[in-house]
Amino acid sequence: MSSSLTSLPPLDPDTRLLSLLLDGKGGFVSGQRLTDALGISRVAVWGRLEKLREQGIGIEAQRHRGYRMTEEPEFLHHRLLEAYAYRLGIRAEIHFHAAIDSTNSEAERLLASAVEAPFVVVASEQTAGRGRMGRQWHSPDKGNLYTSFAFRPQVPPRDLSVITLCFGLALAKALHREAELPVRIKWPNDLLLDGRKIAGMLTEARIDADQTRDLVFGLGLNIAADTNSWPEEIQRMATTLRQNAKKPLSVNHVAAVAIQTVLQTAARFFSGQRQELLADWDAYDALGGETIHTTWRGEKISGKTAGIDREGRLRLVQTSGEEVVVHAGEVSIGSGAKKTG
Ligand code: BTN
Repeated sequence: MSSSLTSLPPLDPDTRLLSLLLDGKGGFVSGQRLTDALGISRVAVWGRLEKLREQGIGIEAQRHRGYRMTEEPEFLHHRLLEAYAYRLGIRAEIHFHAAIDSTNSEAERLLASAVEAPFVVVASEQTAGRGRMGRQWHSPDKGNLYTSFAFRPQVPPRDLSVITLCFGLALAKALHREAELPVRIKWPNDLLLDGRKIAGMLTEARIDADQTRDLVFGLGLNIAADTNSWPEEIQRMATTLRQNAKKPLSVNHVAAVAIQTVLQTAARFFSGQRQELLADWDAYDALGGETIHTTWRGEKISGKTAGIDREGRLRLVQTSGEEVVVHAGEVSIGSGAKKTG
């Protein structure tokens, strides 16, 4: 993890300024340091900081002391996100959109136009966000993260069956650490906090014969949206990190941590470390020992869960004692009243 600005591909000047202010950890950074790092005049630095202030970033200026960041926006800010990503060592390109139809769709379009992978698409709002099973993913502006990651992995398609679980588990751990909250993974695609959804994942791959052409992993993460504006049904089933956190959270930092986690996990996964990535499954398993209902070979079945097998399939011990493995589908917990799928 480096915050040195010397050996970098060119960063946007605002990203560099914000990165330097973040280096100051809330303390003052001299105007001289900023002008030296950017190679622009003091007036130009002042002008850029003024614009960033108008965009919702609190920046205090004091004569003889310099500048410091006093407040962060409660929504994704392109350059602040980039500054955090840079400080976390992320070097993949982030395509940022204030609003877009769906980040998964945009990633697919970019892949089709031969953009180099891996890359990341981020949006503050989606107008046609997609969920699993053809559902819509409610994606209002401000506070949440909608993001997709595009890869051209050199692996046979059968090796991809557990990738979403690896991403989900790594994200649960990272968010647990970051927000100090008991984030859990609900097989196969959700992250939960006390039984309510804080994230959904949607993996889409294009396969040619026996080779993976490309893969898009989409993540919708509820960081700090105003839940009062959500439809009632979503308010009942879902929550945000901010609503539960006992400590202040930076939306852009949390988003950068999530992006870093997925990129690092992908690198490990594609280099063959699949089983290691699933090692802590039981500690983060939202379904561990729960009675659940699902569909198996076209029939409705119930039973107690017993974790996952090596292929990432859910192990289910039915009331008869017979164990089956479920490899896809929806799962509801308990009596069905707590359905979270
Ligand atoms: C689900 O739980 O049904 C999966 C939801 C996945 C939503 C994310 S938001 C970013 C990416 N773009 C989309 O259109 N969908 C995924």
